[in-house]
Amino acid sequence: MTTLIRSGTVVTAERTFAADVLIEGEKIRDIAAGIPVERADRVIDASNLLVMPGGIDVHTHLDMPFGGTVSADDFETGTRAAAFGGTTTLIDFAIQARGMKMREALDIWWKKAENRATIDYGLHLIVTDLYEAGLEDMDAMVAEGVASFKLFMAYPGVLMVDDATIFKALSQTAKNGALICMHAENGGVIDVMVQRALAEGKKAPIYHAMTRPATAEAEAVHRAIAMAEIAGAPVYIVHLSSEDALNQVREARDRGVPAFAETCPQYLLLSVEELARPDFEGAKYVFTPPLREKHHLPKLWNGLKHDHLQVVSTDHCPFCFADQKTLGRDDFTKIPNGGPGVENRLQLIYHHGVNQGRLSLNRFVELVSTTPAKLFGLYPRKGELAAGSDADIVLWDPDEAHLISAATHHMRVDYSMFEGFSVKGNARTVLSRGEIIVDKGAFFGSAGRGRFLKRAARGGAWK
Ligand code: URP
Ligand code: ZN
Ligand code: ZN
Repeated sequence: MTTLIRSGTVVTAERTFAADVLIEGEKIRDIAAGIPVERADRVIDASNLLVMPGGIDVHTHLDMPFGGTVSADDFETGTRAAAFGGTTTLIDFAIQARGMKMREALDIWWKKAENRATIDYGLHLIVTDLYEAGLEDMDAMVAEGVASFKLFMAYPGVLMVDDATIFKALSQTAKNGALICMHAENGGVIDVMVQRALAEGKKAPIYHAMTRPATAEAEAVHRAIAMAEIAGAPVYIVHLSSEDALNQVREARDRGVPAFAETCPQYLLLSVEELARPDFEGAKYVFTPPLREKHHLPKLWNGLKHDHLQVVSTDHCPFCFADQKTLGRDDFTKIPNGGPGVENRLQLIYHHGVNQGRLSLNRFVELVSTTPAKLFGLYPRKGELAAGSDADIVLWDPDEAHLISAATHHMRVDYSMFEGFSVKGNARTVLSRGEIIVDKGAFFGSAGRGRFLKRAARGGAWK
């Protein structure tokens, strides 16, 4: 099957130009002006549309046991929602519970995803326990295409690991070329602040934010980067939320240290006041790190523009308000931490970034697709429009108006963090490896067509 995408404006991280795109099977065959229609079995008219590489979301939590419940989207509903929003690849997290071997965790997550995912996916591995052969097992994971690990400096007693473990893991990646993703918040300090708040009877959602100060994030980011520097390895800070933390990344990068960081739409567009909503609605905005004061937001946008931040992911971790968030009605520490967003990332960053003049079109593509592919060992197969790349393509209508709402979204969750946000710009047609999976609001994909992606070590973070 050959498909010709005709008369569109091709946008990559580097260039914007008028061209046709010829797809043969699952791959892009040619990009050029005036490709003859006779070369194709099927022609898609992309006049007035932008032709971009599909979005890559490197931070999602589908079907994840957490906070006494399980995240509401599984690999079927979560990847379908992602596709509606123009995301054609995601990287989720397999969790190695304490006492479990890494291999076992990987097998569990493979089972969760197979026969369900509609787009291609990779897995990071969350390490909670470096047992006797743990370092060798990290190498074995890399050989399986799991070329990145997440470590937690927060959530003591659940996911948090100590500095010695972090340093050992970083040192191992200096040898095997994987990338460590760091949840950087000082878990010890936060835990003491949480216990103090509870003792004072402060149990409402807002105290989730009050007990996780930006300084606790900045301190951990500083420590994570220092340990990576000593180990001689790059490091990637996940869900960076504050100016304080951003300053640490920028200072390190200015010194030439290979430190990288992502932020998420919620930290760019929402602020801490959301947690004070009445009727327990603040619980909808309980995730970690928490939302910050408004003055942080323009600093993060500026960080994206000037490459102090390299990626926008979602940290999609949905819990329904009605029967999951309410687990913490009487105690904010029991509210499952996480929020939904996998469907809205491109819409929000395009509208508030490109339309508002904060980001160029090319920088937009770089942040949501190309750099994620490079850093996580998928480039140039993913995140690029070029001959030989997978035909993961979004035909983006820059003029389509869209109202974000839980009433119309495809995520399996009963609220939207961005309810009532109006955006201009939306995915019209989405192709995954040459196959149309979304077209004008209709779904044509199927559960199980998505493939596990074996990712290469020594990706862009090492260059
Ligand atoms: O609150 C959040 N972010 N939940 C997901 C787990 C994590 O820390 O990324
Ligand atoms: Zn995290
Ligand atoms: Zn996360």
